[in-house]
Amino acid sequence: MCGIVGYVGSSHAKEKVIDGLRRLEYRGYDSAGIAMPIQGRIQITKAVGELKNLEAKVSDPEFDAAVAIGHTRWATHGKPTEVNAHPHGNMDNSIAIVHNGIIENYQELREWLAVEYGIVFKSETDSEVIAHLIGLYYDGDLLAAVNKAVADMRGAYAVAVMAADEPDKIIAVRKDAPLVVGAGNGFNMIASDVPALLKYTRDVYFIENNETVELTKDSVVIYDEKGSTVDREIKSVEWKADAADKADYDHFMLKEIHEQPSVIRETLLNRLNPDDSIKLDDISMTKEDIENFNKIYIVACGTAYHAGLVGKMVIEKMAKIPVEIDVASEFRYRDTFIDDRTLFIAISQSGETLDTLAALRDAKDRGARILSVVNAVGSSIARESHDVFYTLAGPEVAVASTKAYTTQLICMYLIGLYMGSTKGTIDKEYYDFMLSELKSLPAKVERILQDEEKIKALAERYHFNEHVFFIGRGLDSGVSYEGSLKLKEISYIHSFAIAAGELKHGTIALMDKDTLVIALATQDKLYEKMVSNIVEVQARGAHIIGLAKEGKTEIEKTSDEVIYIPKCADEVAPVLAVIPLQIYAYYVALEKGCNIDKPKNLAKSVTVE
Ligand code: AGP
Repeated sequence: MCGIVGYVGSSHAKEKVIDGLRRLEYRGYDSAGIAMPIQGRIQITKAVGELKNLEAKVSDPEFDAAVAIGHTRWATHGKPTEVNAHPHGNMDNSIAIVHNGIIENYQELREWLAVEYGIVFKSETDSEVIAHLIGLYYDGDLLAAVNKAVADMRGAYAVAVMAADEPDKIIAVRKDAPLVVGAGNGFNMIASDVPALLKYTRDVYFIENNETVELTKDSVVIYDEKGSTVDREIKSVEWKADAADKADYDHFMLKEIHEQPSVIRETLLNRLNPDDSIKLDDISMTKEDIENFNKIYIVACGTAYHAGLVGKMVIEKMAKIPVEIDVASEFRYRDTFIDDRTLFIAISQSGETLDTLAALRDAKDRGARILSVVNAVGSSIARESHDVFYTLAGPEVAVASTKAYTTQLICMYLIGLYMGSTKGTIDKEYYDFMLSELKSLPAKVERILQDEEKIKALAERYHFNEHVFFIGRGLDSGVSYEGSLKLKEISYIHSFAIAAGELKHGTIALMDKDTLVIALATQDKLYEKMVSNIVEVQARGAHIIGLAKEGKTEIEKTSDEVIYIPKCADEVAPVLAVIPLQIYAYYVALEKGCNIDKPKNLAKSVTVE
């Protein structure tokens, strides 16, 4: 996914923009560029590859300005080349733009501009049409020209624009792609995401869909789609400035795995009143609302979907209400039963996943109550929901989601307990028991992290296995899907998750001596059945890594290796069981020399359909 950063101040815009782009590296990119107004002209510099290649090109201290816009490009239209990198200019570079998103009607716009106005395109990209459209409409009023250009465009876009004739400002506009403004003293910034701003300011404006922003060093003016100014509240982002740094870890993923005890504690304890009742600040759902629901849909993608698999079982158990779960890209094309008695729960770390956002909009249009569980404050999914339940995980930079998943699970438990206690479908004894179980999790996760070296040794021993199966029953089944995704997305090993009871219906045909099976057996009531499943696959030559609660040693008789997690209630075992699977995936990928934080073909947030 592309990254945008803009700075308008009194001087040295170059270093702020490049630093901001560095904070957005987690979004994945293959080229970068920067534009600055210098001696009455806009100078555009671009480079393929890492940011340091761009820095080398603009290293001359004299080559600087008070205003700059920069971009890291994740190629969608056109190969990752210097010509296709952003910023893009119009024909005489009197206008420069950076863009995140996709202009769906770019082909027809290109043809129209070429035929009607003789415009010669330099790149293969969709984005370049934006620069030419604005250049065409520009007559001394950049804001007006941008608004005219936007009226011609269809698609998703966050765009920042500068003009040689108005070198003291940046205009930006957003539709279905994230954009935030950082408000400073004597400067202002624009960016795709908060981490790009944190070093300079914590005061941010979240830009809504179809809004336009005019930035100078002393002012931020936000306009709605009718051109009226918007009085937007400034939000102060509490993330620590280095929250998006790697600290002393080799990879963001390992840092974020180790942050889980603290972010689980943060996400849980911030939702409890002194009397242990649950306080959900951002949720206005009333007792009547909760009693009115007759069905719940949980819709998400990837890891967030896997958190929903656990959430489904937990919320059904606690709130005694039917819960359907689906991946967002499928949900949208089904004939679902949505009405004003439906609660639609969207789960998303980035809050920008277009599949999930589109499913949310569909459900909202049909009368559902929208509750989102989101990590990115002020993101599109958060802002378009009736209620938001933030996972307080801090910025998750590694593409492979870890701490977002476990904090999403915490939110699932709290939603289940909140609804169950409100409806009276759980008694106080069970409520108190579950809260004590949840409160014990940070320390138990800490204990598992102390077994890191043991799990690393397993990864060193088994990283050669190119066929890995994750099996489990009940809640362990959902965790198996998450463990499998972790392994495949960072080590590129073909891993596969399946409900253990399903093996005998075909998949067991694949078991042989080269197969590795990671068998989750944390659910007390399903433990015996899991042990017999393990016997089945071991009889066919597979290697077994079992995962069970401390004390459940029966599994050792039928497993080659066993990872134990601290004793806990079945309901909360997923939060613990996933930790060894995250660590295992990390060290297998390390053994294989993979790019752990930025795996091939993947982006941190998928804002395309
Ligand atoms: C998980 O490790 C992946 N990075 C991916 O599956 C991710 O969970 C999915 O794209 C959903 O992203 P979101 O939570 O930001 O909506």
